[in-house]
Amino acid sequence: MLTLENVSKTYKGGKEAVNNVNLKIEKGEFICFIGPSGCGKTTTMK
Ligand SMILES: Nc1ncnc2c1ncn2[C@@H]1O[C@H](COP(=O)(O)OP(=O)(O)OP(=O)(O)O)[C@@H](O)[C@H]1O
Ligand SMILES: [Mg+2]
Repeated sequence: MLTLENVSKTYKGGKEAVNNVNLKIEKGEFICFIGPSGCGKTTTMK
């Protein structure tokens, strides 16, 4: 239902926030991202 393929994000200034994320979320699945502050959870969701 939702697929991320090789998703990366580098912010202006060169900060690499997300590096090559691959993720498949099926219909009805409940997903949450868990990790330390600054690891890229919000950026991945955006
Ligand atoms: N608009 C932005 N410009 C530059 N760097 C950013 C920006 N937004 C986030 N970052 C940087 O990208 C990295 C990932 O940030 P992100 O907000 O995705 O982390 P997070 O896992 O959601 O953190 P938190 O748990 O504190 O909410 C951090 O190093 C952050 O400082
Ligand atoms: Mg966040």
